[in-house]
Amino acid sequence: MKVKNILLLGCGNMAESISLGMEWRQINFWCYTPSQTKAQNLVKKIAQKGGQAEFLPTLKALYQKLQSESLYLVIIGCKPQQFPSLIKDLRSEKILTHPQFQKATALSIMAGVSLSLLKKSWGKVVVRLMPNTPSKIGQGVLLFSCGDKIETELLDLFKPCGLTHYCQDEEELKTLTPFCASGPGLFFKIIELWQKDLEKRGISQNFSSKLLAKTMQGSGQMLFESKESAQALCHQVTSKGGVTFAALQILEENKIETIFNQAFFAALKRNNEIEELITVDLGKEL
Ligand SMILES: NC(=O)c1ccc[n+]([C@@H]2O[C@H](COP(=O)([O-])OP(=O)(O)OC[C@H]3O[C@@H](n4cnc5c(N)ncnc54)[C@H](OP(=O)(O)O)[C@@H]3O)[C@@H](O)[C@H]2O)c1
Repeated sequence: MKVKNILLLGCGNMAESISLGMEWRQINFWCYTPSQTKAQNLVKKIAQKGGQAEFLPTLKALYQKLQSESLYLVIIGCKPQQFPSLIKDLRSEKILTHPQFQKATALSIMAGVSLSLLKKSWGKVVVRLMPNTPSKIGQGVLLFSCGDKIETELLDLFKPCGLTHYCQDEEELKTLTPFCASGPGLFFKIIELWQKDLEKRGISQNFSSKLLAKTMQGSGQMLFESKESAQALCHQVTSKGGVTFAALQILEENKIETIFNQAFFAALKRNNEIEELITVDLGKEL
C-alpha cells in the first residue's frame, strides 16, 4: 500500500492528541506551525513512537512538496481565531488553489467554524471533526459531520483514537461539543476540586489521582457496558439516609443541575460568538 501524506496545519494539544492516536500504518505526517516549535516537537514524538513525520519550516516548503508529492488529508488544527490568517497565508503562498492541495480531503477540528464558512473559505467541502483529548490514548470521542457522505477509509484512520460518531447533522455536532469536546476539561476540574478536599484531609494529590481516576474510569465503564441509565445506576448506590445520599442532597440543594445548565449554555453561546467573530474576520480575507 502507498504511504499517505497527512498535513497538520497546527500542531497544538488537539492536533497532537489525534495524530498520536491515529492508525499509523502507511502514514507520513507533514507538520507545520508558524512558530515551528510545536511542529518540531510533534515530529520528534511521532518518531519516538515509531511513526513517520516530517517538519515543514515554512509554507514555501509545503508548496515545494506539493509540486512533487501527493497529499491525502489536510487537518486544520489551529484555533478558530487563527483561521482567517491561515487562509490569508495559504492564499498568498498559492497553496489554497494548488491542485494537489485541493485534491486532498480537508478536515477541520476547530470549534465554532461552521461547514458553510469552511466551504466558503476552502473552496470545497470540508469535513468537521470534534475530537477530545483522550483520543491520544485511544479512549476519545470523535464526532464527525460534513453534510455529505464520509469515506469509510477516512473514518477508519481515526478508529484507534476511540469512539467515532457520524452526526446526523451539524446541529448535533454543535450540541454535543460542550459535552464531549469540553467534557475532559470539566472532568479534570471536578477531580481537581475533589483532590483539594482530600488534601485538606491529609491525602496527597499523587495518591488520590490514581484512586479518583480509577473511580471515574470504572463508573464510566460500568455505564458504557450497562443497559441501565445513569439515573438508575446512581439510585443503586444511594440508599435513603446513607452516605452517598447525604452528599447528593447537598449537590441538589446547591442546584448542581442549574450550575451545569448554565455552564453548557455559556459554552454553546461562546461557540456562536466565535462563529460570528470568524465570519466577520473571514469576510475581510475572502
Ligand atoms: N483542546 C481541546 O480539548 C479541543 C477539543 C476539540 C476541538 N479543539 C479545537 O482544536 C483546535 C486547536 O486547539 P488546541 O487546544 O490544540 O490549541 P493550541 O494548543 O493553541 O494549538 C494551536 C496550533 O495552531 C497553530 N497555528 C496558529 N496559527 C496558525 C496558522 N496561521 N497556520 C497554521 N497553524 C497555526 C499554533 O502554532 P504555534 O505553535 O506556532 O503557535 C498551534 O500549533 C481549536 O480550533 C479547538 O477549537 C480543541
